[in-house]
Amino acid sequence: MSTQVSTGTFPSSVTEILDIERSHQIPLYAKRDIALVRGEGSYLYDSDGRRYLDAMSNYGVAVLGHAHPRYAQALSEQLQTLTTGHQSFGNDVRAALLLELDTIAPEGVLRSFVSNSGAEAIEAALKFSQAFTGRHKIVALRRGYHGRTLGALSATADKKYRDPFEPLPIPATHVTFNDAEAIANAVDDETAAIIFEPIQGEGGIHPADADFLKAVRELATQHGAVLIADEIQSGFRTGAPFASVAAGITPDILCTAKALANGFPIGLTLVTEEISASLPGGAHGSTFGGNPLAMRAAYETLRILREDGLYERAATLGAQIVERISALESPKVRAVRGRGLMIGMELKAKATPVLRGLQDRGVLALPAGNLVIRFLPPMIWEQAQVDELLTVLEEVLSGGE
Ligand SMILES: Cc1ncc(COP(=O)(O)O)c(C=O)c1O
Repeated sequence: MSTQVSTGTFPSSVTEILDIERSHQIPLYAKRDIALVRGEGSYLYDSDGRRYLDAMSNYGVAVLGHAHPRYAQALSEQLQTLTTGHQSFGNDVRAALLLELDTIAPEGVLRSFVSNSGAEAIEAALKFSQAFTGRHKIVALRRGYHGRTLGALSATADKKYRDPFEPLPIPATHVTFNDAEAIANAVDDETAAIIFEPIQGEGGIHPADADFLKAVRELATQHGAVLIADEIQSGFRTGAPFASVAAGITPDILCTAKALANGFPIGLTLVTEEISASLPGGAHGSTFGGNPLAMRAAYETLRILREDGLYERAATLGAQIVERISALESPKVRAVRGRGLMIGMELKAKATPVLRGLQDRGVLALPAGNLVIRFLPPMIWEQAQVDELLTVLEEVLSGGE
């Protein structure tokens, strides 16, 4: 068997790559003007060989960074063993992952449905809530983001995403985040589910207050509604596996994706025994969901996060980043907030020029709305990467970009 990789056949210049993508893809994304072709640890490389500090993990995915040796070795082994395997058959790696999930799942929320993306994890949660309660309506939060498939979009708040597709299939009321009275007025005995992000991600990195979460938990119980925690972005990187659990809340359903398999597509919907028992066989399914390659990717990711102490590292480094950004006392910064390595820096003016300034100086970060710069670094960052980010950030904030 040849191990030769045919890199010579790929387009190589940034112009060529972007021209092909722009002329062949539906123009749904505002593309940046670089092409990322390689990653190593906490760094990404573009088609010209330029190095960037990765402060975004590709939207919160690559928690182990890029080309992590143990992760790459495990996936390579699995590729040569078994890649595809439907859930109507058992699989050794899937069984091992399920046991590993037991160690991080919220108490009593141990039954899983495995899929391939965040939106699919939410879609399953919404279907399960409707089947369990026999109700249709949901209550969600303003600024909340839950994905773009039609069910997930019903829960997502932003009109820009919703408007072209109205009427959406699930009637949803969106209430102000962290407003216990507003949500109490919206939930009633016809509510199938309340869905929330413990730390809103796309909405600008807004952590939920502990009192608000407690009130929401009580409301769901009182009205017989299912409480869905969307930990698709907040999962793993906030100093604990799940931010809702760390805040003392036990949801009825917990969804996660993104970081769970460090970049291999996956979605996970964890539910209580009671919800699980209410679902008839065949109520949901997925061809790719639970395939051995994805299961191995998630299994290895969770083992590395735990064994290398990366939850603790995320807490320590994240607190330091927030503190050091605040200490810059930049007149351009309105606020810095977040938990662990899920950090938002809200500016007084548009975020784009600062993002551009960071990219020009070799740091890749993300926007969250117009005003917020979002940092979702790999959890393998060390002190050197934190120092590098702060040095560049100080330069960009103090200059004219
Ligand atoms: C909180 C949250 N929920 C759901 C999603 C949707 O996940 P995906 O893009 O994998 O469908 C995202 C993606 O950004 C998210 O941040």
